[in-house]
Amino acid sequence: MEKFVWNVEALLKFPSVPECLVSENEIKLLTAEIERLKNFGCLGVSPSLEGLRDENAKLKYRLNFLKKSLQEERSKSVKSMININSCLQEIFGAAIQAAYPDLENPPLVVTPSQQPKFGDYQCNSAMGISQILLKTREQKVIPREIAEKIAKNIPANECIEKVEIAGPGFINVHLRKDFVSKQLSSLLINGVQLPAVGKRKKVVVDFSSPNIAKEMHVGHLRSTIIGESMCRLFEFAGHDVLRLNHLGDWGTQFGMLIAHLQDKFPDYLTVSPPIGDLQAFYKESKRRFDTEEEFKKRAYQCVVLLQSKNPDFIKAWNLICDVSRKEFQKIYNCLDITIIERGESFYHEMMKDIVKEFEDKGFVQVDDGRKIVFVPGFPVPLTIMKSDGGYTYDTSDLAALKHRLCEEKGDILIYVVDSGQSVHLQTVFAAGQMIGWYDPKVTRVAHAAFGVVLGEDKKKFKTRSGDTVRLIDLLEEGLKRAMDKLKDKERDKVLTPEELKAAQTSVAFGCIKYADLSHNRLNDYVFSFDKMLDDRGNTAAYLLYAFTRIRAIARLANIDEQMLRKAAREEVLVLDHEKEWKLGKCILRFPEILQKILEDLLLHTLCDYLYELATTFTEFYDSCYCVEKDRQTGQIVKVNMWRLLLCEATATVMAKGFDILGIKPVQKM
Ligand code: ARG
Repeated sequence: MEKFVWNVEALLKFPSVPECLVSENEIKLLTAEIERLKNFGCLGVSPSLEGLRDENAKLKYRLNFLKKSLQEERSKSVKSMININSCLQEIFGAAIQAAYPDLENPPLVVTPSQQPKFGDYQCNSAMGISQILLKTREQKVIPREIAEKIAKNIPANECIEKVEIAGPGFINVHLRKDFVSKQLSSLLINGVQLPAVGKRKKVVVDFSSPNIAKEMHVGHLRSTIIGESMCRLFEFAGHDVLRLNHLGDWGTQFGMLIAHLQDKFPDYLTVSPPIGDLQAFYKESKRRFDTEEEFKKRAYQCVVLLQSKNPDFIKAWNLICDVSRKEFQKIYNCLDITIIERGESFYHEMMKDIVKEFEDKGFVQVDDGRKIVFVPGFPVPLTIMKSDGGYTYDTSDLAALKHRLCEEKGDILIYVVDSGQSVHLQTVFAAGQMIGWYDPKVTRVAHAAFGVVLGEDKKKFKTRSGDTVRLIDLLEEGLKRAMDKLKDKERDKVLTPEELKAAQTSVAFGCIKYADLSHNRLNDYVFSFDKMLDDRGNTAAYLLYAFTRIRAIARLANIDEQMLRKAAREEVLVLDHEKEWKLGKCILRFPEILQKILEDLLLHTLCDYLYELATTFTEFYDSCYCVEKDRQTGQIVKVNMWRLLLCEATATVMAKGFDILGIKPVQKM
């Protein structure tokens, strides 16, 4: 994947040729060109004065455009947060380059240090370089020596206070206090802004994607929650995100549903049938399909008529889809999900061409009447046409892939789908490469897979009676449990009914989302209301309480937002206390965390980080007075403003983190 340009400011300071300088050079050239053309025109010797004037105008336009983008880029880089890790990587990259100019692709490893005695960050490249020197040049150099050489070549920069060589060859980096302090002030003044992303990309995210007439189950809930956060993250990073609901709305089940509808509600063309429970309706039609020969025949005819777009059948199909759609929307409303519907049916017209394209390029084999495509590396072929001429899940996914690549011009496609469909998706992606729709070096097509949701008994998530759990019931139960919890903590005695209700919704839906997001999506995960509502440990309940408390600190000291804003501009954030220093650095790791997730799509890293931030904050709050009070009277005697600013910076980053996770804190809880 192309590397993001995270830190224009830092880049400007280093020897590599930054984009902005290219623009400046270009401007110089263009200016010279304009001057030349101007003179040319004045002399009146041009045979095509008009043409040159035109050219001149175009160049001026382009010059202005370049100037503007240069300015924008500059102001963005000043306001945005710095990714300290990549900043250090650039610095150490330059140092290694200077120390070992002819080493190709030397390993560049920079990580935050685990213990204060090892500094703030560590560069661990010396060990790797030592091995490379031994392997490629048969030079035996001990890593410590290499580390020293790297350290000597560190270019001038604004963030490193000093480095120390430790152990076999670690380079421990101590950051400059004034640098960290300045970054925190800038964060408070400008808000959380990520470093510029380079080219804005088109990102297509396929998520949620339940099936019409079938229950939207916990697997779909997982996809919905993870997908929504993924979209929010890419949007926050400045990309253009298309959120797609790949609804299963075109399968053969519609034949039996429509046939059943015709029997049950024959006047469906004029009156909207009251199918309250589409599940029961589906079950009944399925039973008839399996037991009544005549019905089965008619169901098949219905599929054919639907697929040939007969208006009456389209009407019936729409009615059925509408019932499901309304059910799905209830869930999306609760969880604040934004998504557009683009189900399998959307691609129906394209499927014929897809089959033809594979045939024309010689990839199709006929097997027992079916048209199949073998993809190198995958033992099971894709079936692109059934023997009865119908299309399959494979065909609609191939069509969707092509549409997303060629029509939507997606640079990054993400499929948030359960791990069970991994082979299917990988085969589809490989087929897309085989036929030349995309090059994985240019376009990123990723399956963001996730494991299954288990019940507390570690078995498939079911109700006590063994039925599948209806999502809407699950959300209802979450609400009820959240309210019980709030009442347990006697919050009903402190909060107004409106505040209590707001807290209930925030806790219930926040916890359900967070429980999912805080687990590595690749693992199976155990759904437990007790665990997710526990206000100790890495849960939304804990974080929401912590956040509300942090936000209240300044308020309780009678410091309003305006005063904080003023202080942010005027006060220096002192970071002398060990816990202030630890918290300050932790806050500034936010961009580094997000960048990692943009690459590996593992959102639990953000949850882990927010939890670390909250506990680091608690350590700070426990040992550093923000507001000093008279022991007897309880009156405020001193406000340590720089510490309130640290509280504020913590809350600002937490709020942004919540926003990406789709968690909505409330003012009081
Ligand atoms: N409707 C499918 C299911 O419920 C999920 C679709 C996922 N997206 C895709 N492009 N295949 O299993």
